[in-house]
Amino acid sequence: TAPILRRLADLRALTTHWHRKDGTIGVVPTMGALHQGHLSLVEAAKADCDRVIVTIFVNPKQFNNPEDLAKYPRTEIEDAEKLAPYGVDAIYVPDPDEIYPEGFSTSVIVSGLTDMMEGPFRPGHFDGVATVVAKLFLQTQADRAYFGEKDYQQLMVVRRMARDLDIPIEVIGCPTVREPSGLAMSSRNLLLSPEGLLIAAKKSGIMRDLADQLAAGHAFAPLAQKAEAALIEAGFTEVEYIDLRCAETLEDLPHASRPARLFITAWADGVRLIDNIPVSPT
Ligand code: PAJ
Repeated sequence: TAPILRRLADLRALTTHWHRKDGTIGVVPTMGALHQGHLSLVEAAKADCDRVIVTIFVNPKQFNNPEDLAKYPRTEIEDAEKLAPYGVDAIYVPDPDEIYPEGFSTSVIVSGLTDMMEGPFRPGHFDGVATVVAKLFLQTQADRAYFGEKDYQQLMVVRRMARDLDIPIEVIGCPTVREPSGLAMSSRNLLLSPEGLLIAAKKSGIMRDLADQLAAGHAFAPLAQKAEAALIEAGFTEVEYIDLRCAETLEDLPHASRPARLFITAWADGVRLIDNIPVSPT
């Protein structure tokens, strides 16, 4: 199994040595509770890079809701076991003071891309993400970083942040891994009851139908209303947003007139479920 490192100095000793040998380093940042979605990122990193670091850090700064933070699953031993077959080179589980030392007072704020969707619903969330990811990029000195399209807005925010701050890293997006039911894999799925799982599983079909109609050129607004009604009918308790946006800039689109992405965030069984899929223009 890969060594678990908790101190930055130990990580640095390794990465300096790796870079001296001219190897490329890939990083897969996670908050643990690893599932097949995370592991697909590890696989992509292994295929591309000489060395792979998986980071596990439940980042308090990105949780706008203390209850959500307290409930977040923590499964370090199982996570290390799941990573064993992949032959990663290091698992970095930083001690909290390696990320937020006493007196920590710097924040990375990405504007524009964070003004919509997850941004307004989770105040401070993307500042927390951008800050911790900037630190993880700098701490690991990785050449490539792997992120899931499952959190598409996060992927765009992180890519913008790395470009804007001249962090020399390539941010690579990887497709969403789903359960056989179509439900996007998520650590939060562990919080669903058996009944909640059945409700959650209905979301991807509703999203797929909407995307198909958008791809056929129909206007978004009336279809979104129908999809919202279908979600409530399926047992979702609240639909936070259904958005059609440009896949590159995240601008709102009234039609899928260019490569677009459909985003749906809704609550089932007390769990907030986010998902998105591509919509190709006709
Ligand atoms: P976490 O939710 O643990 O996700 C880690 C990475 O796995 C993210 O890039 C996420 O998009 C990806 N991922 C999650 N579910 C996936 C799925 N079903 N298919 C493909 N990829 C999936 O996202 C975070 O952690 C944090 O915000 C982090 C970036 C680590 C910063 O704290």
